[in-house]
Amino acid sequence: MKISAAVKRAALVACAIAWVAVLAQARFAQPLAEYQARRTALRMHLDAPLVLWGYTSKQDPSELAIFFQEPNFYYLSGHNEPDAALMILPDAPAGKTWNGPHEILYLPTRNLQQEKWEGAKLGPDDAGAAAKAGFEVVKNADKFAADLQAAEKVWSAVYTVLPPKDRGGKVEEAGYPHFTRANEWIKATVPNATIKDGAPAIFAMRQVKSPGEFALLQKAIDLSVDAHIDAMKTMKPGLFEYQIAARMKMVHEWGGVAREAYAPIVGTGLNSTVLHYDVLDQQIQDGDVVVIDVGGEYGGYAADITRTLPANGKFTARQREIYDIVLGAQNATLAAVKPGAKINGGTENLNTISRNYINTHGKDLEGQPLGKYYIHGVSHHLGLDVHDPGATDRPLEAGMVITIEPGIYIPEEKIGVRIEDDVLVTDTGYKILSERAPRTAEDVEAVMASGGGTAR
Ligand code: GLY
Ligand code: MN
Ligand code: MN
Repeated sequence: MKISAAVKRAALVACAIAWVAVLAQARFAQPLAEYQARRTALRMHLDAPLVLWGYTSKQDPSELAIFFQEPNFYYLSGHNEPDAALMILPDAPAGKTWNGPHEILYLPTRNLQQEKWEGAKLGPDDAGAAAKAGFEVVKNADKFAADLQAAEKVWSAVYTVLPPKDRGGKVEEAGYPHFTRANEWIKATVPNATIKDGAPAIFAMRQVKSPGEFALLQKAIDLSVDAHIDAMKTMKPGLFEYQIAARMKMVHEWGGVAREAYAPIVGTGLNSTVLHYDVLDQQIQDGDVVVIDVGGEYGGYAADITRTLPANGKFTARQREIYDIVLGAQNATLAAVKPGAKINGGTENLNTISRNYINTHGKDLEGQPLGKYYIHGVSHHLGLDVHDPGATDRPLEAGMVITIEPGIYIPEEKIGVRIEDDVLVTDTGYKILSERAPRTAEDVEAVMASGGGTAR
């Protein structure tokens, strides 16, 4: 059968468009209905409106910056463009009336000149904007202040995400104080309103993953496991730390990872004992151990995986001893993961279990317990953020995804070992989502031998 050139061309164009759609979807693929359901669920917890600003386009002036949405805003909207805001309104309190919508997405006026450089954006006046955004109503961002003032007359309070320092947490670390600025704007807009922290309710929802979120997490984890296996097969003395990281990032990006979930850590020798080592300029020496803590972010969801390798493919007896203690601590901690267990709080929790194990196995060069070389927590939640927010003394529930990551770091022996896996809490216990990455010393050595330091 003969196909005309025009038909072939049309088919190619259709293919190209479909491929672009797949690529775009691969990074942010949740149905709009899921974000709407989250807003509906959050609304049930609210006795006043909740307002939230997404990130602006001006927060990261780096030439390398690619816009990434503020995670709470993204979680509730799925909207991945800058300078947007949202308001979610509960039913009016007794004796009051609210005739307006229950959810509004505010978008900036389109800048057609800028769009020639940066691509088309959804605008408030676009036909079908509300349906495209999956919101009840879309309005121009210039209406936000007046709407908030109208709402304040009905509820006299407003929820938002307070700056971390107002929750007793860390100060905002990013260069741009997003939440501080947003709160200043709210105070200036409705000076008489009581401002309440909506973060705990949002964080609590974010701690339990939906099937859609889980699929993105698993994809991020699978690609990160592929990268770790590549590192095992490639590792050999003489390579530089950055070369291992470079290959791992290539595996991630080839698979559709939009960015690393955190700065890659590849620490050889003494650097293996530095928790968040990110310089990566040292040459890997025969006899070193190398801590590799590298994870990609897929569709906005972070993987966080660590493996520790013997540079030459075989642990020394002492390295192996420390490795097996960390592995034992990880297994003891994993055994306790089930609904009802806690990361922190109470008399026994995941942290106390891992710490007790390390303190009761092995000794340092002075014959002292190893607990003092275990200088971080064993677990955190994982999701849109690598350290996903939320209470760590909340009992675990099925559908939560956490890391289990004990470690021992002995600078005087130049031995650092961390083993970190990503774990789903199930109805009866746990499932290791990163289990395809070899974890025992034997399995690590076997995969390294299968590559022979030559995977290229
Ligand atoms: N990669 C950071 C952490 O393990 O928490
Ligand atoms: Mn971690
Ligand atoms: Mn990690």
